[in-house]
Amino acid sequence: MTSSNDSKSAANPLWGGRFAEGPLEIMERINASVVFDHRLALHDIRGSKAHAAMLAAQGIISAEDEAAIQGGLDRIADEIRSGAFTFDPGLEDVHMNVEARLKDMIGEPAGRLHTGRSRNDQVATDMRLWLRDALDAVEAGLCDLQAALINQAETHADVVMPGFTHLQPAQPVTFGHHLLAYVEMFGRDRGRLVDARARMNQSPLGAAALAGTSFPIDREMTAQALDFDRPAANSMDAVSDRDFCLEFLAAGSVIGMHLSRLAEELVLWTSPAWNFVRLPDGLTTGSSIMPQKRNADAAELVRGKSGRVVGAFVSLLTMLKGLPMTYGKDMQEDKEPMFDAAETLMLTIPATTAMIAGLTVDADAMRRAMADGFLTATDLADWLVRTHGMPFREAHHVTGALVKTAEEADCDLAELPLETMKAVEARIDATVYDVLTVDASVASRTSLGGTAPERVVAAAAEARRRYLT
Ligand code: ARG
Repeated sequence: MTSSNDSKSAANPLWGGRFAEGPLEIMERINASVVFDHRLALHDIRGSKAHAAMLAAQGIISAEDEAAIQGGLDRIADEIRSGAFTFDPGLEDVHMNVEARLKDMIGEPAGRLHTGRSRNDQVATDMRLWLRDALDAVEAGLCDLQAALINQAETHADVVMPGFTHLQPAQPVTFGHHLLAYVEMFGRDRGRLVDARARMNQSPLGAAALAGTSFPIDREMTAQALDFDRPAANSMDAVSDRDFCLEFLAAGSVIGMHLSRLAEELVLWTSPAWNFVRLPDGLTTGSSIMPQKRNADAAELVRGKSGRVVGAFVSLLTMLKGLPMTYGKDMQEDKEPMFDAAETLMLTIPATTAMIAGLTVDADAMRRAMADGFLTATDLADWLVRTHGMPFREAHHVTGALVKTAEEADCDLAELPLETMKAVEARIDATVYDVLTVDASVASRTSLGGTAPERVVAAAAEARRRYLT
């Protein structure tokens, strides 16, 4: 058996000029990024086409060379799309794979494409182009999720369920109101993505290796061709910074956390102990040993996968924090976290949308869950304040005594006889019963942002206007 360090290939055709022999096999393996950065190929070609057009417009390369380069790059893009292109790890990365193929196809003019450019500004450009598309796709996915939540909220604007604090039944709310809470979270998540996109949309192309170039390039022209708002102002910053990627991963981590909380609620709601909602068969799985099971695996995976996005953020931040200016090869490690986080979100967001769109609600189960939680205790205290001018603290104390009485009698507050209530607080009269049902409770919460069904209907319409148009 030969040791992996023995085999030496020929010097690299693209940068091997000063090397007598090629890299050791282990060097090739640690250096190669094409196994993952091939995902950048079409964006790399887009950047190269803009660069070639600019070089020709500036008279840096001839029109004939440009035409050969453009034609070759188009054919390579076709090969990549059809799957005919073979990426060679020996050629290190996606940039050199594309350039080597261009040389095969068109010969000498291929060597002129890299004039006034470096892989450093090239890869920074590719990353921004790729991430910009990914970010748009994630944002569109969140918009679909909001639409599904708003639809269900409208359908269930008056379905009453227990609202929790500390996972203890607290006050009645409506299911629609609960779902609209997530619409707001995902709305802020979209805002963070849009903010990050605006900051990332500057073109590094033309920063070259780190210092700019002596060729008379036109960075405005390439920036415009690639739909960037402007060229990045400082060439050193342009090649060395990855904060645009960190911003995406930070925003993605918050999205993952929101998805995970919603997924956790789906797991609870679908558990037979709760039975609040049912997911369609197509979104649940059975057990190979327990025939009765209907597991919410999709929700559990959404919850579980959120950790990958946080991991990507931590990994990139840690990789970057000790790097002196400007580019270091460490930075090649920026890609896998970015790809994995984006791909994870593009899986978990539509999975969540499918669950929300497909769920059915068991309104009776929700109502039963409120039978012995004394969820209208706050309504009773508020009634004492409103009707008898009692200070809220005293009303809270009186209500506590009534809850204790109901608990001892094993009944709900609304089932306590009037005399029993009067024994605790003489000023209580029969009108108290009007506030003790869960429906009266939610109907009374008409304050702005409150859970009253009429508020929920209006809030859903407002959310539709704000987020979906
Ligand atoms: N594959 C490299 C990366 O992703 C491209 C840039 C290489 N630059 C260099 N100076 N070696 O970081």
